[in-house]
Amino acid sequence: MKNLIFLFICLIAPSILFTQAIQHGHENRSGSSGILGYEPSAENLKGRAWFEEARFGLFIHWGVYSVLGDGEWVMNNKNISKKNYEKLPKLFNPIAFDAQAWVQMAKDAGMKYITITSRHHDGFSMYDSKVTDYDIVDATPFKRDVLAELAEACRKADIKLFFYYSLLDWNRDDYYPLGRTGTDIAGREPGNWDDYITFMKAQLTELLTNYGPIGGIWFDGHWDQMGWDGKEFSQLKVDWKYDELYGLIHKLQPAALVGNNHHLGVIPGEDFQMFEKDLPGQNTTGWATAEDQIAENLPLEVCETINGSWGFNLQDENHKSNTELLHYLIKAAGHGSNLLLNVGPMPNGQIQTEHQASIAAMGEWLRQFGTTIYGTQKGPLKPTDDYAITRKGDVLYLHVLNPALDRIHLETFEGKTSSVSSFESGKLLAHEKNRYGLVIDLKEVPVHKIDRVVVIVLK
Ligand code: GLC
Repeated sequence: MKNLIFLFICLIAPSILFTQAIQHGHENRSGSSGILGYEPSAENLKGRAWFEEARFGLFIHWGVYSVLGDGEWVMNNKNISKKNYEKLPKLFNPIAFDAQAWVQMAKDAGMKYITITSRHHDGFSMYDSKVTDYDIVDATPFKRDVLAELAEACRKADIKLFFYYSLLDWNRDDYYPLGRTGTDIAGREPGNWDDYITFMKAQLTELLTNYGPIGGIWFDGHWDQMGWDGKEFSQLKVDWKYDELYGLIHKLQPAALVGNNHHLGVIPGEDFQMFEKDLPGQNTTGWATAEDQIAENLPLEVCETINGSWGFNLQDENHKSNTELLHYLIKAAGHGSNLLLNVGPMPNGQIQTEHQASIAAMGEWLRQFGTTIYGTQKGPLKPTDDYAITRKGDVLYLHVLNPALDRIHLETFEGKTSSVSSFESGKLLAHEKNRYGLVIDLKEVPVHKIDRVVVIVLK
């Protein structure tokens, strides 16, 4: 009998659970099972609905690396030894940090949430952690818990706060086996993986206990422990214990959303799917999530930088124009996705003025056209460089992104239209619907250098 039970546990039970996972639409190529049979709570579903409507958030990459002005990967890229990198906290004293000013900037830009790095790959915690001294309160002359100050400012301004949390760590010895990155950093010693999982659980408990209601946790670094042949990820070397990490988050704050920047299909226990520097289905980076791995029923979020860097980079002047940034937001919405737009504050605590200006310009546009973005769903056709379509019930917002067009032809448009008008002037527009699709005359639409919005009401 004992043998039979043993056989069931080893052979049959996993295959039943696996089949259930697939039936729940959870098939994923991550090599991690996550929480098998995960059913989100009612609070969690509410959190997802809020997130889907939000459409625009501010990403903040901030850490002691900002002192070097060379991005958040500088420890790995310059192979800075642990001993030398550990001198940085002493140089980090951001006296101009003002949580309220950051939050106000986000609010004025029409952003609904902020996601900030609580700990990045360098392993330095930007809050008062009791399970390490390698944190902003214990190791810097600044001694202030910036996450606590930000949480308070967000609460007052009705902005949701999410925490980015790195799975990968270049500083801790218990992050062992080493991953693909940081292998040439001097001073790393072998340690015990289970201790690392225990450490992460203790930190997540702090983040979900000490800072009030949190919008969610944004994991990153999964890919460090996978093989990569330049085209595809292969098997994981470690067990991230997502069942435990995700389970802990859902237990401590059921409304908090879990997302993971693994570039793979969703792992059970996750509540939204994220895309890095690529709109869903695109692959300009070479490591984007495959199109057939895009979740059908989960909120989506694309993150992007204003220049080319996440963490403050003194030399990176490759700033995107306001039009490029707004087009990215509009296209993301056309894909049914949020945009999480990044800033990398400087070591003095301020956000560089170029980035403040871009964000302010986006806010100005959203004040006029926000109803065509917030609370919308993806349109019936995928965005192109010429246009993107968002939808609210029977109303489609056609964003014409190419200013050179004086008419637009939506070839595969299938719906029946009851009216077609300019969003700005309300003027009805000449249009023709035939078997080749829908053609709209744009000559009566007021010229706008960023976007011309046409309202299509469906029958
Ligand atoms: C990448 C990078 C990381 C950055 C993140 C943001 O995964 O490793 O530095 O935080 O993208 O999307």
